[in-house]
Amino acid sequence: ALVSLRQLLDHAAENGYGLPAFNVNNLEQVTAIMEAANEADSPVIMQASAGARKYAGEAFLRHLISAAVEAYPHIPVVMHQDHGQSPAVCMAAIKSGFTSVMMDGSLEADGKTVASYEYNIDVSKEVVKFSHSIGVTVEAELGVLGSLETMQGDKEDGHGADGKMTREQLLTDVEQAADFVKATQCDALAIAIGTSHGAYKFTKKPTGDILAIDRIKEIHTRIPNTHLVMHGSSSVPQELLAEIRQFGGDMKETYGVPVEEIQEGIKNGVRKINIDTDIRLAMTGAIRRYFIENPSKFDPRDYLKPAREAAKKVCIARFQAFGSAGQA
Ligand code: G3H
Ligand code: 13P
Ligand code: ZN
Repeated sequence: ALVSLRQLLDHAAENGYGLPAFNVNNLEQVTAIMEAANEADSPVIMQASAGARKYAGEAFLRHLISAAVEAYPHIPVVMHQDHGQSPAVCMAAIKSGFTSVMMDGSLEADGKTVASYEYNIDVSKEVVKFSHSIGVTVEAELGVLGSLETMQGDKEDGHGADGKMTREQLLTDVEQAADFVKATQCDALAIAIGTSHGAYKFTKKPTGDILAIDRIKEIHTRIPNTHLVMHGSSSVPQELLAEIRQFGGDMKETYGVPVEEIQEGIKNGVRKINIDTDIRLAMTGAIRRYFIENPSKFDPRDYLKPAREAAKKVCIARFQAFGSAGQA
């Protein structure tokens, strides 16, 4: 059944676990996640970006999700709008039946320019107002995502060209978070603690202090009733990169967020963990392998099946590692 994000995250908080939130764009990803959740007995957060709606089309996306709910009636499913760029995008998502929206007011509506604090409060507050009146959950974002290794802002968020940033600029401020939550009444808050989007997060194998776990703890202690969200949480498994390279792909040396670091985050108050890149890597590796090993095959089902299996494997591993397995 479709449930609200607030319901799922409240349960996760009460029971001390975290929930992966996987991005979806097509049938194979939706079915991979649902098969994994069914096997692991985990609740599900599926999220779609503006890019996903553009790729699949609003109607197809909407019906894919309702198909998932219909096929697995015993699994609680949240349909979440990822990185809504404006109140209008969030409103459109709600009209499509989404039970949760992210108003990403950390950036202006162009998705690139870093927004003022006042702008972020204004748009987040507006979205909370119309969402809460109909039981839809709201995630907001405060801070600039970026790597504490390279001290660079998130490239996908348009900060790449800004050059080096300071540690404080790359971490969500504790008092500002408290002020922001009080002003907006958002249910969940995406915070900057050292993660960034995409496959290229770290240039070296991360050591223990790659995430600002202390900051997570401080923010959680200050705003215990607001669920913390980690974006850019793919682990970029080396074996998936190796498979892509082995079968003709060109991917440079790169590292993601180790699962153990995410587990530390969960212990300190993180409840929603966003993952897109790992599923992309898994599917790409499987498809590359299939084409090389089976050059005469041309039925899309033949190569999409192993791609779906590979995505499913990633999902099961995260459900188990984050503790949501067995909680459906
Ligand atoms: O935060 C970004 C997610 O990975 C979605 O990516 O905008 O390419 O769909 P996308
Ligand atoms: P990754 O690129 O690390 O998978 O992060 C996805 C994300 O944060 C979607 O909002
Ligand atoms: Zn994100």
